[in-house]
Amino acid sequence: MKKFTVTIAGGGSTYTPGIVLMLMENLDRFPLDEIILYDNNEERQRILGEACKIMMKERHPEVKFSFTTDPKEAFTGIDFVMAHIRVGLYAMRELDEKIPLKYNVVGQETCGPGGIAYGMRSIAGVLEVLDYMEKYSPNAWMLNYSNPAAIVAEATRRLRPNSKIINICDMPVALENIFAAILELDSRKDMIVRYYGLNHFGWWTSITDKAGNDLMPKLKEFVKEKGYAAETEDFQHRAQSWKDTYLKAKDVFALDPETVPNTYLKYYLYQDYVVEHSDKDYTRANEVMDSREKEVFGISKEIIEKGSAEGYTFSSGAHATFIVDLACAIAYNTKERMLLIVPNNGAISNFDPTAMVEIPCEVGSNGPEPLSMGTIPTFQKGLMEQQVAVEKLTVDAWIEGSYLKLWQALTLSKTVPSAAVAKEILDELMEANKGYWPELK
Ligand code: NAD
Ligand code: G6P
Ligand code: MN
Repeated sequence: MKKFTVTIAGGGSTYTPGIVLMLMENLDRFPLDEIILYDNNEERQRILGEACKIMMKERHPEVKFSFTTDPKEAFTGIDFVMAHIRVGLYAMRELDEKIPLKYNVVGQETCGPGGIAYGMRSIAGVLEVLDYMEKYSPNAWMLNYSNPAAIVAEATRRLRPNSKIINICDMPVALENIFAAILELDSRKDMIVRYYGLNHFGWWTSITDKAGNDLMPKLKEFVKEKGYAAETEDFQHRAQSWKDTYLKAKDVFALDPETVPNTYLKYYLYQDYVVEHSDKDYTRANEVMDSREKEVFGISKEIIEKGSAEGYTFSSGAHATFIVDLACAIAYNTKERMLLIVPNNGAISNFDPTAMVEIPCEVGSNGPEPLSMGTIPTFQKGLMEQQVAVEKLTVDAWIEGSYLKLWQALTLSKTVPSAAVAKEILDELMEANKGYWPELK
């Protein structure tokens, strides 16, 4: 049986140890020769890398493990890149969130002006990792979580159309775990779903069991009362702010009881509520720095100090499972049905064929084969056309260095009330992002 080599790009990410653990747990179905961590931040990566190295040596000494900031070492002779980079780190995420909030506009990692600002930073970083992979391992696949996935996906579609990159999101997977719990199923894999939308902007239209029985009525009954506030929780979404988001899905659902919505739609449909319930001085970036980041780096430092990982573990959930499942589907041509971000190409028949959409695909050794989702109703189509234009204008702005296009992108975002407010936010974001964005004229 072939053994694979995986490079984790963004080796210093809070998600790295969870993915390393998940890879260890899946060695029987996805055997590994080697795991390599790659980051451009030596210090962050060294802490997580040393800790994972100790853990690997104790638990799976047969798998080689290393970490490096040298692209040639990191990307030579590999089969997969699992990428999750954050250009600008949490310090810049904090500004993405706080600057729009000053103007009473949603401050969010991937939605609205903050998401646009993050997109303008991420594109170059993701292209850099992709280019290294193609230079040193032209046959490898890049499975990319790096956000904002919608903008990153549009950029890679446009600028690297033939590259083996698949952009992914764990939100639908995490929500499907909750659906399965609500429906009293053992696993989300007992469901067959139909879903369409953009990343962080979509709807489930059908959920059945394997025999074809409709599970939507039972799910909707729950969502109508409680949103997604079920008894189960994923480590990633257990903070109070995430619980509020899960509850708010109830109000998003009310707008179209035919479908079941992605949680992120609250930022576009209840933007005033979101702003009112935000703390302008302490946003999600602060929460994560004080929780997930502290926890992951804290555990790692303890492991290094003790020289042993015995008794230690890292949180690892839907996020890590999904990317390992995807690698397996490609490696073994399993044709597993998965929600991925792919070019529309007619899959949603009444929507822009060049849009990057999130839809079910069958995944095999040649990558994703998108499934046809048919036509979509006026409400969703209108929302998606507006949002996809925001994402395309952002990529235009990045490619052309155009201030005007980026002003248009912010103005068109459903989270922003006027061109005047868009301009004020843009000017402040541009100043804060000096050195990260291409220069705009
Ligand atoms: P983090 O800041 O803890 O880690 C990101 C790491 O990327 C850092 O160590 C940083 O140094 C590194 N990095 C930045 N630019 C790089 C480059 N050009 N080359 C190599 N490494 C680089 O962030 P995190 O909270 O762990 O999140 C990581 C990423 O994963 C973010 O983009 C986040 O939004 C994304 N994410 C996406 C999903 C999804 O659904 N798509 C889910 C979870 C996380
Ligand atoms: C969800 C989304 C991701 C996002 C993650 C973490 O899983 O799909 O795109 O990055 O949440 O968000 P947080 O605010 O907890 O860092
Ligand atoms: Mn996501």
